[in-house]
Amino acid sequence: MNYTDKMLRDDALKSKKIIVTGGGSGLGKSMTKYFLELGAQVVITSRNLEKLQKTAQELSEATGSKCYAVQCDVRNYEEVEAMISQSHQHLGEVDILMNNAAGNFISPTERLSSNAFDTIIDIVLKGTKNCTLALGKHWIDQKQENKTILNIVTTYAWTGSAYVVPSATAKAGVLAMTRSLAVEWAKYGIRFNAIAPGPFPTKGAWDRLLPGDLKEKFDLSKKVPLKRVGEHQELANLAAYLVSDFSHYLNGEVITIDGGEWLKGAGQFNLLEMVTPEMWDMLEAMIKSKKS
Ligand code: HXC
Ligand code: NAP
Repeated sequence: MNYTDKMLRDDALKSKKIIVTGGGSGLGKSMTKYFLELGAQVVITSRNLEKLQKTAQELSEATGSKCYAVQCDVRNYEEVEAMISQSHQHLGEVDILMNNAAGNFISPTERLSSNAFDTIIDIVLKGTKNCTLALGKHWIDQKQENKTILNIVTTYAWTGSAYVVPSATAKAGVLAMTRSLAVEWAKYGIRFNAIAPGPFPTKGAWDRLLPGDLKEKFDLSKKVPLKRVGEHQELANLAAYLVSDFSHYLNGEVITIDGGEWLKGAGQFNLLEMVTPEMWDMLEAMIKSKKS
């Protein structure tokens, strides 16, 4: 058994109907694949229909479960309402929403146009709000229960981060929305949780966050105490658990899966890791000598 193995029993998501935003690529695609393997039917949605259709066909063939492609720009509320209506045609009632779509790029904030800042806020925060509000209102109107929403954030949702300020601002908003609605909509039988992944290599993220030779110069695995980046299956295992009925008592939680990365950056004396045993001998002697 190791961390790249599939974790849940084969029928863990049997007959669950799921919408995954940004499910045509990267982590959304990997999580969708595992949901399908566990017996779910999934609508993947984003702007690029051709990419979605290719992914839906590939995943349906690979897993034997049904995956549908529906085009939608999550920034636009009317498109989101239309996407949910098309999802109902494909799936019937929807049980689970995973807000995974995102936009991001590195930049000094003073170089950003107002529109550049808005673009990220609109995809990440407004997009999550649009999908949550449209589907939530429907569930509440229809008196549907045992529904769940899983939001994908990042660890800098609470630490903040320089050079990705629109993304940090938006992800912080998504985290606040997760915790707020976990309480407010629990009475309607809707649970909310979030995952905060550390570095999990994807083309979408790496092209925008580590362009050119930054990939070599800025090896993210070195920032992680466990000295490695994440494997998509370990994220998929966690996501599948959080959307499944096994996690029914988990509500309003954000689970970090980053090998300890953000805590390494936060602890004031964590840099002392570079001190060798010989240096520790010397330092200990120096500290003890001060006693007298
Ligand atoms: C400065 C930039 C820019 C850059 C775009 N803009 N890229 N400004 N530096 N590198 C500006 C544009 O000039 C424009 O402003 C505005 O942003 C909108 O750009 P468009 O290209 O018109 O937007 P759009 O076509 O909607 O594309 C959105 C996008 C793009 C976010 C810019 O990168 C995209 O489609 N991304 C989706 C996928 C993605 O980002 N995946 C990574 C998620 S990773 P003006 O003023 O000129 O009109 C992630 C990881 C988190 O979230 C944590 C990792 C550890
Ligand atoms: P990705 O492959 O670029 O995924 C982003 C997805 O969002 C794409 O499929 C994209 O599809 C979709 N999208 C973007 N704008 C959209 C819009 N306006 N409407 C609808 N869909 C839109 O990157 P990823 O690394 O897998 O990221 C997935 C999630 O994980 C994101 O929430 C990200 O913040 C989070 N995350 C990733 C990492 C990491 O290390 N990779 C770390 C922490 C958090 P289209 O282009 O077709 O629209």
